[in-house]
Amino acid sequence: MEKLIIDGGIPLHGTVTPSGNKNEALPALAAALLTDEEVVLSNVPLIGDARTIAGLVADLGADVTWSDDHRVTIRAQHLRTTVLNPALCRSARASILLAGPTLARCGTVDLYPPGGCKIGRRRVDTHFLAFEALGATVDAGETFVIRAPHGLHGQDLFLDEASVTATENAIMAAVLAKGTTVIRNAACEPHVQGLCRLLTAMGAQIDGIGSNILTIQGVDRLHGAEHRIGPDIVEVGSFIGMAAATGGGVTIRQAAPEHLRMILLEFAKLGVQAEVRGDDVFIPSGQTLKAVPEVNGGVPKLDDGPWPQFPTDLMSVLIVVATQAAGTVLVFEKMFENRLFFVDSLIQMGAQIVLCDPHRAVVVGPSVLRGGVVVSPDIRAGIALVIAALCAKGRSEIRNIGQIDRGYERIDGRLRALGARVERIAEE
Ligand code: EPU
Repeated sequence: MEKLIIDGGIPLHGTVTPSGNKNEALPALAAALLTDEEVVLSNVPLIGDARTIAGLVADLGADVTWSDDHRVTIRAQHLRTTVLNPALCRSARASILLAGPTLARCGTVDLYPPGGCKIGRRRVDTHFLAFEALGATVDAGETFVIRAPHGLHGQDLFLDEASVTATENAIMAAVLAKGTTVIRNAACEPHVQGLCRLLTAMGAQIDGIGSNILTIQGVDRLHGAEHRIGPDIVEVGSFIGMAAATGGGVTIRQAAPEHLRMILLEFAKLGVQAEVRGDDVFIPSGQTLKAVPEVNGGVPKLDDGPWPQFPTDLMSVLIVVATQAAGTVLVFEKMFENRLFFVDSLIQMGAQIVLCDPHRAVVVGPSVLRGGVVVSPDIRAGIALVIAALCAKGRSEIRNIGQIDRGYERIDGRLRALGARVERIAEE
């Protein structure tokens, strides 16, 4: 395992281009199982989770070829098994994304309870609700055994929550089902939209992309396609947070500003100014951050929710920025019950935070953070600790960065290009 050594206090400056969206790339890799023809994905981030999902797809018998320029070519001409590799299932939550396409293609799939970030209860009920409604049986013990011997049949589904990966699984199962499927209360994040665009390029018939009602007309077969993964908006938000918290000036190129409206509104509650310049977002240097009171003078609330609300995956970044803003804010993390526990590390570094309960924290700023030795518990808390270290006085050591590498490509090199003093060294 490796660690990052960061000498803080240096404002970041320069230009950065976000990687391809992790959470679009993962279902896109899985979707290639739906056809025996070649699927070519470009702008795939070179990160741990993408390698894990590509590894699972290859383990089922598909040919998977990576090239250095972020292109992945997948040909699932013949599948040798429908039983997923248990070790790979346990190393990424997104392994469950292979269930829908494998079931649709072969009528059967066996998988193992998925691993991934320890950020709270990760229920799989919505996935199974969708498969059962489409005509499959699910036996969920130590392994998940899913069978559809008579094929999948279109249904009018109402998901019990707008789960991202359950929506993606339901879509991938429905595109080859007989008849029409309507998915109501569907998640509609940019990555769900990206998956739908790939499937449409493969010949699927999907209406309502971008909304929470999707209507899918099943087809007999899908064909090969080429698809470019869109920019990772969580990375964009992470770079906005880094620039703002360090007082630096950073241009984020090709940042998909059409998807950033809520994200910029939430950062604006901390006084962060961002200029949208065409496809780019510019964060001016030397901003004075300040929690902006509500109209009646009330304490501002930073909260998340399913799209188009503020993404939960950026909440930890927002908390670090809040430690650098004058005033008090209430953070209300509604989605995951363990996500806020990393604030202990920020408190250790000098932040003024009261964790009220697993979902709410009060942050009082600004605090002068000091360098510390901290452990990255998950991808997003990991990047938040990197940001805290970048604006802290002195040297920090961030351990367990395998977590960060699961979601952020070459983060140390890209930060050095923005002027940060960051070294990656082996943990003894
Ligand atoms: N939830 C609600 N209400 C809803 C929808 C979800 O409370 O209407 C709760 C769920 O109960 C759960 C949490 O929110 O506790 C997330 O639920 P979801 O099923 O949507 O999560 P997921 O599909 O397992 C994907 C991303 C996560 C991201 C979530 C939420 C992938 C591969 N993973 O997970 O990404 O946090 O959606 O947006 O797409 C990450 O990238 O670091 C990451 C954890």
